[in-house]
Amino acid sequence: MQDGTFLFGAGTSSHQVEGGNSNNDWWEWERTRPFPLRSLRAADSWNRYGEDIVLATQLGHTAHRISLEWSRIETQEGRFNPEAIEHYKKLLQEIRSSGMKTFVTLHHFTNPLWLSRKGGWESSRTPELFARYTKYVAQHLGDHVDFWITINEPMVYALQSYGKGIWPPNKKNAWAVWKVVWNMARGHVLAYRVLHQVHPHIPVGFAKHFVAQLSPLRDWFFNRFFFSLIFNRQDFIGVNYYFSDKANVGKLPVSDLNWPIYPKGLTQILLSLKKYKKPLYVTENGIADADDSRRADFIRSHIRAIEEAQRQGCDVRGYLYWSLIDTFEWAEGYAPKFGLIAVDFQTMERTIRPSSYVYKAIIQQARRVV
Ligand code: BGC
Repeated sequence: MQDGTFLFGAGTSSHQVEGGNSNNDWWEWERTRPFPLRSLRAADSWNRYGEDIVLATQLGHTAHRISLEWSRIETQEGRFNPEAIEHYKKLLQEIRSSGMKTFVTLHHFTNPLWLSRKGGWESSRTPELFARYTKYVAQHLGDHVDFWITINEPMVYALQSYGKGIWPPNKKNAWAVWKVVWNMARGHVLAYRVLHQVHPHIPVGFAKHFVAQLSPLRDWFFNRFFFSLIFNRQDFIGVNYYFSDKANVGKLPVSDLNWPIYPKGLTQILLSLKKYKKPLYVTENGIADADDSRRADFIRSHIRAIEEAQRQGCDVRGYLYWSLIDTFEWAEGYAPKFGLIAVDFQTMERTIRPSSYVYKAIIQQARRVV
């Protein structure tokens, strides 16, 4: 944080905020669920993104993470939609002209319907299809991107969707988990290559969810295994960190989702990644905290945890709080409130939560030190 280039910001993902993403597998599944568990208009950010960007700028952010909705860009197999590209171009231009760097995720849990009908990530053709979509996006949007994130949390996706079966396509099949992980690794590697062919200098990574204090076997499988599959094809490491494994840590404070809060875990994870000798970015870290009583401390303590890792030689270059605004929180619906900014899902009104100003002060302080 010392040299003033450290990036501070927040993120969202397409399906969680845009609204109306009716051409993907989540939407289809949500139709089978009771009313409050459907994304519907979400936070209507497809129309209101301008407001969100203004608020992020007012809060002093210097970076912003979004994801692109594959099902809007490639509406049917091989059919690309220039209007969606125009939309994302405007959004990215707006982020940049507000003085923020752009982190752009290509896959954040949702799949176009046509892809899921072909077997989704279980199919060995999907990595190539993902690379083709990636190429199109890179050619049309690459000029507005500072960091690419190919896939968000491949292990979480595979386990929730094919292991526990609680996300679409709701399978419980260990063999499918392996296939999906393998295909996502291939998808990442192919996308890495394509992104560098089109724009050699834009750094490419993926966002890896880490859990602190796992048993050695689970640590290997959940936290490390994917790295061995991608042969180090990443220019930075994206770290998503939320909690420690409850089994191994005594009494810890918890979030509204009962996730144990353990900032030291972030230091431990960052230190464990030092050996890869890549820049590290915390691409997600946040808390479900509807009454905003723990968020300020949560942010403060996790930023201190990053500083501690830096003191011990880790090259950490950014922190993106999750999430900028309240979102559709996947299978949990709208109950968990992660946002720095509250959203009233009836009126779509945005209200800045007090903890956002604490985060703002931290950002200003870090920039003043320079
Ligand atoms: C996901 C986000 C989600 C957050 C909180 C992360 O694993 O990338 O989409 O909102 O967790 O559950």
